[in-house]
Amino acid sequence: MKIGIAADHGGYELKESLKAFLQEKGYSIKDFGAFTLDNQDDYPDFVIPLAQAIVAGEVERGIAVCGSGVGASVAANKVQGVRAALINDHFSAHQGVEDDNLNLLCLGGRVTGNMAAQELVAAFLDAKFTGAERHVRRLGKVKALEKNS
Ligand code: RB5
Repeated sequence: MKIGIAADHGGYELKESLKAFLQEKGYSIKDFGAFTLDNQDDYPDFVIPLAQAIVAGEVERGIAVCGSGVGASVAANKVQGVRAALINDHFSAHQGVEDDNLNLLCLGGRVTGNMAAQELVAAFLDAKFTGAERHVRRLGKVKALEKNS
């Protein structure tokens, strides 16, 4: 599975740590930046290209990190076809994929520590959308909004 990863300055250190963790696990990683720690950078400049790459099929899933994870999720969900959520617990990390077909995990680099983040990322990447009719129906109602916007 090819994974995209992105962060602003608030998530830079966690991104670097997660990138090494995932590479060690054998994942192919496309890094959308930031490539240096710059306290003046803006999360949409990294998160939006990652979100667009998910929709384009260039990467299968993504991980976006800002300071809180809030800005990253707000920005990413503006891209049609992206289902992003800020995740702080293990249950939501896998259930978000199983039920809601989450394709972009957002984390807060100033909130979640390295080891906890690794567990959340592993749960997210190991999970699969169940495709159950009720979940497809619910996602269809969400997708209908995208068509009208
Ligand atoms: C940057 O200081 C910070 O606002 C950003 O990383 C993020 O937390 C936004 O939600």
